Amino acid sequence: MSAVDILEMVAMLGMAILALISSIFYGLYSLLYSMVPKKFRVKDIKGQVVLVTGGGSGIGRLLCLKLARKGARVVTWDVNKAGECCLFLIPFNTETHFY
Ligand SMILES: NC(=O)c1ccc[n+]([C@@H]2O[C@H](COP(=O)([O-])OP(=O)(O)OC[C@H]3O[C@@H](n4cnc5c(N)ncnc54)[C@H](O)[C@@H]3O)[C@@H](O)[C@H]2O)c1
Repeated sequence: MSAVDILEMVAMLGMAILALISSIFYGLYSLLYSMVPKKFRVKDIKGQVVLVTGGGSGIGRLLCLKLARKGARVVTWDVNKAGECCLFLIPFNTETHFY
């Protein structure tokens, strides 16, 4: 067995030990985190101003909807359909500005 082979084996063993330690650490972390009550884990965004660019479709639109449902003050704009792109937000009881 050459010195290079021994070095490779040591490196692989080191990586395996690191992976094991990481998985134990993150396993314990998520276990402890799941025990913390949700109200301390989730930020309350009710009344907060949130800016979403490209709110006319796709991810931006979905994000606007989610934030509006949570009571945020949504500010959004989109290059397409200016002025009407975000009319879907009107039914929500939230302050909404279109650009
Ligand atoms: N959909 C996915 O799975 C995915 C995954 C990773 C990254 N992304 C990225 O996330 C972004 C949004 O993705 P999507 O699927 O929601 O796209 P989409 O095309 O459905 O929506 C993008 C919206 O942004 C608007 N827009 C584009 N340029 C703009 C500008 N300069 N100012 C204002 N509005 C603008 C468009 O008019 C459109 O309404 C893209 O950059 C995309 O590459 C998407």
